[in-house]
Amino acid sequence: MSTVLYPGSFDPFHLGHLDVVEQATALFGEVVVAVMHNPDKPSGVLSTDQRVSLISASCSHLPNVSVRSFPGLAVDAALSVNALCIVKGLRTSGDFEVEQQMAHTNFAVAGVRSVYVPCQPRFSFVSSRFIRDIAAHGGDVSSMVPSAVSDALASLFSPRSK
Ligand code: PNS
Repeated sequence: MSTVLYPGSFDPFHLGHLDVVEQATALFGEVVVAVMHNPDKPSGVLSTDQRVSLISASCSHLPNVSVRSFPGLAVDAALSVNALCIVKGLRTSGDFEVEQQMAHTNFAVAGVRSVYVPCQPRFSFVSSRFIRDIAAHGGDVSSMVPSAVSDALASLFSPRSK
């Protein structure tokens, strides 16, 4: 059984992310979900503490999963928990381009390897950016996020009456 680090901004955590966590725990054993800062995504809807608590609630059925926030670099977070590797989910070839550059950089600076997990095709369109946008306009995102996240977004933004 190995420990792996699954870093992301998770604003918010969605069903595609949950699928990656479930696959990673089945493959490796222990998964540390790391809530981290993405400098390309400065404006979020959920605080770091809210993200940690919503991911914890969404993964409560998975005994070998822990959720923490980390400052700084993903490689330092991975080394601090003795992770075998960083795990990332892939939806599309566009994700691959971005992830491949990050994976090579993380290996070059710290020798930390990355393993990609393909998300299930039924989640391949799900994106935190679109979920934020739809929720902020009162739309229904409950088919794309765990129930804890759906409830939190509904209390943050007034849902439109159906
Ligand atoms: O869910 P995201 O936004 O695609 O996750 C990106 C994230 C947070 C994993 C990435 O921005 C990251 O690793 N941030 C920590 C800072 C870092 O390690 N930067 C160097 C990346 S090569």
